[in-house]
Amino acid sequence: MPSSIARQSIEQLGGEASILARQRRDHEELDRLMRRYDADPHPPEERQQILKDIIQFTFAHAFAEETVLWPALRRLHPDGDALTSRVEQEHQEINVLVAAIERTDPAYPRHRELTSRAFDVIRQDIRDEEDLLLPRLQEALGNDRARLRSLGTAWETVRRTAPTHPHPSVPRRPPGNALAGLPLSLYDRARDTTSARRGAKVAIVLTAVLAAWLLRAAIRHRS
Ligand SMILES: [Fe+2]
Ligand SMILES: [Fe+2]
Repeated sequence: MPSSIARQSIEQLGGEASILARQRRDHEELDRLMRRYDADPHPPEERQQILKDIIQFTFAHAFAEETVLWPALRRLHPDGDALTSRVEQEHQEINVLVAAIERTDPAYPRHRELTSRAFDVIRQDIRDEEDLLLPRLQEALGNDRARLRSLGTAWETVRRTAPTHPHPSVPRRPPGNALAGLPLSLYDRARDTTSARRGAKVAIVLTAVLAAWLLRAAIRHRS
């Protein structure tokens, strides 16, 4: 099996656009943000903004893994099911922890405890992906650069439109997560770009429009 993708050159990973290089870049950015959050002192508002950036970054990245990358690994590698179950458990744990963080007042010590536990699981998830799952994906694709690039493009496309907050009750596997993805993404991105109250109203309108559109499409399909 190839070594950890953390120790390979960009050339060995299949170039800048390959899924392996894209994953490593995102992991490095996430690690940089977590270290910045941990490095005191920051004013409380700045710390909260860094945490928001980490949350948005983490969930879009993980959702695209769950809908594009891990199904591909299950199809391509005989151990794919066991390997992806392991990281899906980590993703679920991160969902539960971050949902609790979002409900907790940042002034309480519990907020710091939950954040520290969530960072530990995110770091473990990165290690498992870079050391175990992604080298196996690389092995299964036989270093086919075109396929590494096309998987990278598919993952990046989903990542850019994925939900940006935790959703612990949504399944971690397709088709459940893929079906829920669009309305959740509309809801989350409305929350990210407007005030919480206005965001909720915008999200309800967008979700209603989407539901009407899907219903109309279903009726047309049946007739
Ligand atoms: Fe990842
Ligand atoms: Fe992950």
